[in-house]
Amino acid sequence: MKNIQIIGIVGAGQMGRGIAQVAALTGYQVILFDAFQNSLEFGHNFIKDQLNKGVAKAKWSQADADKAFSLLKPTLNMSDLKDCDLVIEAATERKDLKFDIFRKLDEVVKADAILASNTSSISITEIAAVTKRAHLVAGMHFMNPVPVMKLVEGIRGLETSDDTFNTVAAVSEKMGKTFVRAQDYPGFAVNRILMPMINEAVYALYEGVATVKDIDTAMKLGTNQPMGPLELADFIGLDTCLAIMNVLHDGLADTKYRPCPLLKQYVAAGRYGRKNGKGFYTYDK
Ligand code: CAA
Repeated sequence: MKNIQIIGIVGAGQMGRGIAQVAALTGYQVILFDAFQNSLEFGHNFIKDQLNKGVAKAKWSQADADKAFSLLKPTLNMSDLKDCDLVIEAATERKDLKFDIFRKLDEVVKADAILASNTSSISITEIAAVTKRAHLVAGMHFMNPVPVMKLVEGIRGLETSDDTFNTVAAVSEKMGKTFVRAQDYPGFAVNRILMPMINEAVYALYEGVATVKDIDTAMKLGTNQPMGPLELADFIGLDTCLAIMNVLHDGLADTKYRPCPLLKQYVAAGRYGRKNGKGFYTYDK
């Protein structure tokens, strides 16, 4: 297994900054890269606030927070990732963008480094194929909110080596997460199961089975989920849920994965959920 000391993160958005925070708190040196200054500054300041909130809630000491913050280096320059042992990409979930990032990372980062993607639905085998180091590419799918959720879903592409997969498992565990191993088929394990449940909840609403609130209350109190499926869909983003349903529908070619027309309509109307204030519920922006 590789000895991982320096972790690069691509993308300072919601997932990237969460991964960066957890990695720094568990003692890794972290280089946080984002191509946009606003996003990088926002992400860096957000981590500082979260580290301070953790001190106020006695989750960790001020010394731990200060040490974690000192281990974190933000950069706008991708070539600063060159000495990383592992780079975790957490950019926007778009195939063309991820392919482009992996092509560039493959050129910039030292030859024996592992490149991982936090993708929720894009094939790791396809991502790996744009690089010249497919055996060093794997999926590390963190859940939102990263500091709270205990899972990393590991995804093994066709060419991922045992050493690479075992290394990302060990890093995930050092970060305090439980690592599950999934093969590279559409939706992997989590979204193969979660998204059809959410989509079925939207069908139940569409067909008038129950109201938004009653669907969520039924599933929260009846099956002990922290959020009802429609509230969770808003939390994940309705556009993301639709995109993942499309990946399942296209990739598995089975009508049981057809996205609900109501989900498509909400997305067409610009109701993306919490991120823009309106989904199945409305939110203060
Ligand atoms: N960042 C960091 N910490 C957060 C947070 C965030 N964004 N949101 C909440 N927390 C922390 C709070 O600080 C609080 O910590 P303490 O208990 O130490 O004080 C704790 O989480 C609980 O928060 P709240 O009391 O405010 O709220 P809650 O009890 O309702 O929990 C929740 C909020 C953790 C989000 C909970 O509702 C939950 O677990 N929901 C389900 C989330 C889920 O399923 N995520 C996976 C989505 S799927 C995905 O990510 C993958 C994909 O590919 C689509």
